[in-house]
Amino acid sequence: MTERIVLAYSGGLDTSVAIGWIHEATGADVIACAVDVGQGGEDLEVIRQRALDCGAVEAYVADARDEFASEYCMPALKANALYMDAYPVVSALSRPVIAKHLVKAAKKYGASAVAHGCTGKGNDQVRFEVSITSLAPNLQCIAPVRDLALTRDKAIDYAEKNNLPITTTKHNPFSIDQNVWGRAIETGFLEDIWNEPTKDVYNYTDDPAFPPVADEVVLTFDHGIPVAIDGRAVSPLEAIQEMNRRAGAQGIGRIDIVEDRLVGIKSREIYEAPGAMALIEAHRELERVTLEREQGRFKREVQDRWTDLVYDGQWFSHLKRSLEAFIEDTQRYVSGDVRMRLHGGRATVTGRRSDASLYDFNLATYDEGDTFDQSHAKGFIEIYGLASKQATARDEKFGNGPSLEPDEASAFGKE
Ligand code: ARG
Repeated sequence: MTERIVLAYSGGLDTSVAIGWIHEATGADVIACAVDVGQGGEDLEVIRQRALDCGAVEAYVADARDEFASEYCMPALKANALYMDAYPVVSALSRPVIAKHLVKAAKKYGASAVAHGCTGKGNDQVRFEVSITSLAPNLQCIAPVRDLALTRDKAIDYAEKNNLPITTTKHNPFSIDQNVWGRAIETGFLEDIWNEPTKDVYNYTDDPAFPPVADEVVLTFDHGIPVAIDGRAVSPLEAIQEMNRRAGAQGIGRIDIVEDRLVGIKSREIYEAPGAMALIEAHRELERVTLEREQGRFKREVQDRWTDLVYDGQWFSHLKRSLEAFIEDTQRYVSGDVRMRLHGGRATVTGRRSDASLYDFNLATYDEGDTFDQSHAKGFIEIYGLASKQATARDEKFGNGPSLEPDEASAFGKE
């Protein structure tokens, strides 16, 4: 029987050409696999037909939008996932769900290998391949752009020579990856890291410099997940979509960073993630209200590690699963409402309420009749500062007491 290879298919030029390219290089039949993660654009049926017209023997298409929102974006929200404190891991989240469907398709059609269109310089190749082999250790992975020398110019030649039903003329200056959690834009003039992004870079967000009137929104969370907006019940997918619209209109969630790739390269990336950034802001505030202090502190370490693992392509790793058990436990009381004002590029929390709140008005108030016994503070501070006090007393005994003068050596302008 002829070998079969499942190809991650976007419907674009490179992967359309890859169908015939892989067949010619390996002799295998190619099965195209297209997954909708909310990237918008063409209908899945149009993409399916194009795959078949380009020579795929089968086409597997999946609407994975709800799956992606619930099983990938929601864990990222619970983890407040921001790689390098900035990037809401947009592309890193979609690769594992696409990989899962690639593996499903490979099993369904008895394929021995899976192919994707990534280059050899990015994170996405790592995420696809590590995800695929973590789910199916016996599958082979190939990347025609990286392994079979499929360059863009060759792709255009090939498509024209073979009359493939795909436009080859439109030259997009950027490399774009998008899904419902956000949008990533790179390459072109953005590779000069001093160049300011031009207006045409953005698509999910309007210019925050000219915002419409402020938009007030109330988000209701249950166990860390948004379940209603302004009192209307929403699914995770609907919550993200609605917040993309409303926060996007206010220009919220534009990010411009130089980022450390897993493969050692620093790269300039522009992101737009209006819904994700607004949801994370709200979720974090609700955690500030409902998490016990030490639990919240430790969670920050755990969620940063979780985020790094996800960025690095370890979605299906055992450590990530274990960290998730901790994160899940912290979400037990992350339920309640957060009110936000969306305006001019910012999502600002203006109110919060929760039945599980740890905020105690009677403890916090400076009004008469508070329940906090201030006489206990004196003894607490005595003991809390004791170790440092003892050590300084010892230092003084040896003539090394702390100086109260400005540090001459480090003063500005001095060598
Ligand atoms: N650098 C980002 C990441 O690694 C975005 C990658 C986007 N991919 C693309 N083909 N534009 O997650």
